[in-house]
Amino acid sequence: MDQDFDANFYRDLSREHPVVDRTEGVYVFDEDGRKWIDFGSGIGVTSIGGGVQPVIEKMVAQLERATFVFNGYFTNRPRIELARKLLELCAVDMGGVIFANSGSEANEVAIKIARQYHYDAGNTEKFKVISRQKCYHGNTLGSLSVTDRPTWQSHFLPYLHDFPKISAPYCYRCPLKLEYPSCELRCAHELEDVIQKEGAEMVSAFIAEPVLGTTVAGATPPKEYYAIIRTICDKYNVLLIADEVITGLGRTGANFGLDHWGITPDILTVAKGLAAGYAPVSATIVSKAIFDTIANTSGGHTQGFTYSGNPLSCTAGLAVLEYMSENELIDQARATGEYLAKRLEELRDIDIVGDIRGCGMFYGIEFVRDRVKKNPFPAEVGLTRRIVERAYQNGLILIAGMPGCVDGVNGDQLQLSPALVFTQEEIDEALRRLRKSVESVRSELVEEGVHSA
Ligand SMILES: Cc1ncc(COP(=O)(O)O)c(C=O)c1O
Repeated sequence: MDQDFDANFYRDLSREHPVVDRTEGVYVFDEDGRKWIDFGSGIGVTSIGGGVQPVIEKMVAQLERATFVFNGYFTNRPRIELARKLLELCAVDMGGVIFANSGSEANEVAIKIARQYHYDAGNTEKFKVISRQKCYHGNTLGSLSVTDRPTWQSHFLPYLHDFPKISAPYCYRCPLKLEYPSCELRCAHELEDVIQKEGAEMVSAFIAEPVLGTTVAGATPPKEYYAIIRTICDKYNVLLIADEVITGLGRTGANFGLDHWGITPDILTVAKGLAAGYAPVSATIVSKAIFDTIANTSGGHTQGFTYSGNPLSCTAGLAVLEYMSENELIDQARATGEYLAKRLEELRDIDIVGDIRGCGMFYGIEFVRDRVKKNPFPAEVGLTRRIVERAYQNGLILIAGMPGCVDGVNGDQLQLSPALVFTQEEIDEALRRLRKSVESVRSELVEEGVHSA
């Protein structure tokens, strides 16, 4: 086959993938002229849509001016301005920004910076990073160590740290079998138990996705959750790392996901929406205390990559953020998100729709066989895959959430992360195709005797 040599990580090697020709706004076209509405914005990436001329023009101008310089000897103007802009977006004064190229790298930097900060502050034993079950923080060895995705980890266990994990705030299927609000946020208080068990003197940081991403798409912790987490972190001198790789920069209808809880992390990471797919760039933003401690002790950090903060990627990031602010896209995301949330609720009339959750332009839909018992369909049914394929035939790109959200094997869910620029008409059309796809797969399940009408 034409693509046999292309071992693309996500590619099902048994079939050809369409070859993309162009992206325009929220649409994707392939070389055969087929057209799709992209309801995943890549995978939570292309928040301003494709083909935005002001961004492209600024990138071309930058390439004509300067391509690459060695980070060890030079900085560059877009990099300085992008760092400044990111700091402006934070709710409180943060200390500095470290650039990298992907979300995994940004989280890797966050883990290492947390360790360096404690070391420089004289807490030399602190190194453990606590995270949550059902989380995803990336695919490099450090970020994979704090991830909970067994199918992606199993081959590499000898390389991974066995870091502790607390229960996920997955209220639809509370892992502690409790109910909000009578649970009194037991899942958040678990952090204190685990810190005490591991020894506070050993624990460096707690990392979390403010709104859960691909593993339990759209699960949104209750309003009290992060204040409890923040208090526990402060009590034990444990840094709070917000992995805003997907939730950052407008996706949830705010600058950052944690803004909804009014909580400030010590470190936050952003990636996907930062340059919105126009170039790879990610950033780790650190507090003043971290910045100053490292500056006054080690004198600097060693978390660089060759391409960190390169002029082209930073120009793309800056141009995207400028475009978002000129067009008030975060306000638009909030407003369109409310419309999307309301329209998504209509899908509850399909009896296999179990849960719809999320905020802004970031939602998850979980499917069940029986709404009362919340039983999932067996994994062999391949429900999510079938819905995604049916939608694809219907001209709609959907992102499959990780399979196995219920017990690691079973559990079907979609992640909806449309571009912030979707109009209501485009949302309506996407939802029409989504409903059609879900209903047609549901009818098939009835015909196959897998589901009763
Ligand atoms: C919350 C979160 N963190 C980290 C990552 C890893 O980012 P990347 O794939 O850019 O390395 C992702 C990617 O999906 C993510 O959703």
